[in-house]
Amino acid sequence: MNARVLVTGGAGYIGSHTAVVLMQAGLDVVILDNLCNSSALVLDRLERVCSRRPEFVQADARDAAALDGVFARHRIDGVIHFAGLKAVGESVAQPLRYFDNNLGSTVTLLQAMERAGVRRLVFSSSATVYGDASASPIPETAPLAVTNPYGRSKLMCEDMLRDLAQADPRWHIAILRYFNPVGAHPSGLIGESPRGTPANLMPYLVQVAGGQRESLQIFGSDYPTPDGTGVRDFIHVMDLAEGHLAALRYLERKGTGITVNLGTGRGVSVRQMLDTFQRVTGRAVAHRYADRRPGDVAVCYADAGRALQHLGWQARLGLERMCEDAWRWQAQNPAGYGG
Ligand code: NAD
Ligand code: WQD
Repeated sequence: MNARVLVTGGAGYIGSHTAVVLMQAGLDVVILDNLCNSSALVLDRLERVCSRRPEFVQADARDAAALDGVFARHRIDGVIHFAGLKAVGESVAQPLRYFDNNLGSTVTLLQAMERAGVRRLVFSSSATVYGDASASPIPETAPLAVTNPYGRSKLMCEDMLRDLAQADPRWHIAILRYFNPVGAHPSGLIGESPRGTPANLMPYLVQVAGGQRESLQIFGSDYPTPDGTGVRDFIHVMDLAEGHLAALRYLERKGTGITVNLGTGRGVSVRQMLDTFQRVTGRAVAHRYADRRPGDVAVCYADAGRALQHLGWQARLGLERMCEDAWRWQAQNPAGYGG
């Protein structure tokens, strides 16, 4: 029988791409999502891409009875926990909502897993836990210091998971710290579908390219970087998705936990991203330089060595593929899943 994975938040951006990778690797997938930031349409798209449909449970990950139901109905071998809220600015304005959702869902899920005797978990953390890390590349051993409630919610979950693994060695937990996921499945059927005005670079950029927004603001041109714009570790979402399969395999194989960066290990500037996008898609993207965005750091990219050494995983897709795939998704789905 195939291994079966519960994917909370699996209708969302990273979760849906991970569901593709898992199903194509022959695993059975059960998605639990309350659809607060996603659409059930993604299930049709997953079926088109994978020629089979994941099980879907529309429920909140803070709903203990719903989780117990899933564990009772399905023999689950491991869980990937994507469900959560992720907008930094929103978290500053609504901290309690972020703590309730991100901490509440994690505690409730862990308790349900404990009751079901399922103790293999992959957790979505973020490079945001490194705060204003003074030097890149950032290794996993860098000091942790968060600068906003979203980041704090991730760090608090990480701490909780470390405490749990310490208390009971039967728990095998992979904490994955993502850098900046961008791009989409190469079919153009699955991608990022933000609600309202996108806060992140790539979704904003593709909407300008598609004519839905007038102009991209480049936040900061006076950073101490080669071209003055911010530098990030943009990683193709399909590579990121593969990292989750590698983490599950690691937990199976090693029977121990791990904390690992998922990034390319390469810094790319906002200007480089914009130039590459325009070149490979042939689309002009109106833009102008604006002030730095408060809270942004100049440079942030991963030391990706541990992932290669322990998971045998590394990012393979370059900047051009990130741009091509993001644009294909946008061009085919101008309104995302809302269209
Ligand atoms: P997303 O919003 O597209 O996906 C999250 C999914 O979780 C959505 O489908 C949403 O409906 C669901 N959800 C939220 N709260 C829920 C709850 N209480 N119960 C059930 N479902 C719930 O976001 P994403 O970009 O796919 O991010 C996935 C995870 O990765 C999040 O935990 C996020 O914090 C983390 N992460 C994202 C990024 C990024 O840049 N996208 C970077 C680092 C970490
Ligand atoms: C990237 C660069 C901006 C928009 C965020 C979260 C982080 C993680 C990933 C969840 C920066 C510049 C952006 C725009 C721009 N998420 N930019 N114009 O801030 O690195 O990371 O997403 O865990 O926690 O903070 O990503 O895409 O917002 O910005 O010039 O319209 O693009 O200033 O230099 P960021 P981003």
